[in-house]
Amino acid sequence: MKHKKLFIPGPVEVDEAVLQILSTPMIGHRSSEYSELQERITLKLQNLMYTTNPIILSASSGTGLMEMAIRCTTVKRAIVFSVGAFGNRWFEIAKGSGIPADKHEVEWGTGITPGIVDEYLATGRYDAATLTHNETSTGVMNHLDELSEVFRNYPDVVWCADTVSSLGGVKIEVDRLGIDVCVSSSQKALGLPPGLSLASISEKAQARAKEVKNRGYYFDMLLLLKYILERNFQYPSTPSLPHIYALDFQLDRILKEGLEARFARHRELAGYVRSWAKKYFKLFTQEDFASDTVTCIRNSRDISFKDLNARLSERGFMISNGYGRLKEKTFRIAHMADMQISDLEELTQHIEDILQLRC
Ligand SMILES: Cc1ncc(COP(=O)(O)O)c(C=O)c1O
Repeated sequence: MKHKKLFIPGPVEVDEAVLQILSTPMIGHRSSEYSELQERITLKLQNLMYTTNPIILSASSGTGLMEMAIRCTTVKRAIVFSVGAFGNRWFEIAKGSGIPADKHEVEWGTGITPGIVDEYLATGRYDAATLTHNETSTGVMNHLDELSEVFRNYPDVVWCADTVSSLGGVKIEVDRLGIDVCVSSSQKALGLPPGLSLASISEKAQARAKEVKNRGYYFDMLLLLKYILERNFQYPSTPSLPHIYALDFQLDRILKEGLEARFARHRELAGYVRSWAKKYFKLFTQEDFASDTVTCIRNSRDISFKDLNARLSERGFMISNGYGRLKEKTFRIAHMADMQISDLEELTQHIEDILQLRC
């Protein structure tokens, strides 16, 4: 089967050198060699996340650690701030786990404002909050800086952020922002295959977890941390070694590129796609909330997205349709991980050619 170059918001294209690393022979996961590997990865991730908090690695996709986060940090009640489908997922997880929770969902395409967060937290009803940093369904990137100022005023609230589609492409200064649980996945801006997730955990989140009676087992935050902190960087069950090797290798590539350079490249990629989208279509997302890693484009020309993607596929490319209720109204182009401007230029030229686009 001919490979299609992926411009979908996960899984993303994975560099050939990273794919090779996945076939490295296995080692025993209770060995000192494994501990050294996980410790090395932790130091690099702490660098990328601007934190000194311990980092959990999980052999699950990001949804697993989202479940860990809300389940292990809510005693009283959680408030879910949602800007789209993945924000709503936090609420579904809470309902499915029997966690008391409320949801505030804004109109899709816009973001959460500091006033909204303040309004809910000021009630004193909540001891946990969730926020999607970068909402992949709508292309909205929330403004962490100004929202963190509000969370700072409520020290009893544990704040969990979903950075699944932004970490590795956007600067997220976990400690400065005061994010208690910062969750991400391998298959987006980190440029790895799907199947691994990670989360940083603050002392406040750890203290809260001690008050939670039913933390489950596989996603028990304290059990996962016990194996890291007391058993020298181990994992309670069997880790996904191929992913762990690849993460170690890819983090070296990310740090070699330079964090600031990587974030600047993502801003440049986003700027390119946004200008292109505005030239021929319209942005779905309110522009001051537009994401640096994925652009959600309004189908203002009423094209058949299905036909477009089929034609792109013949040429070896794949983009993404709208998510959920936005299926017919929007389509999405991802610009993250190891992508270069030349990749996007090639893609947009093909789209212009297929659709015979003229300004
Ligand atoms: C913003 C966001 N949050 C959460 C998820 C769920 O992550 P995963 O598929 O790794 O479980 C996704 C997946 O696309 C996402 O884009």
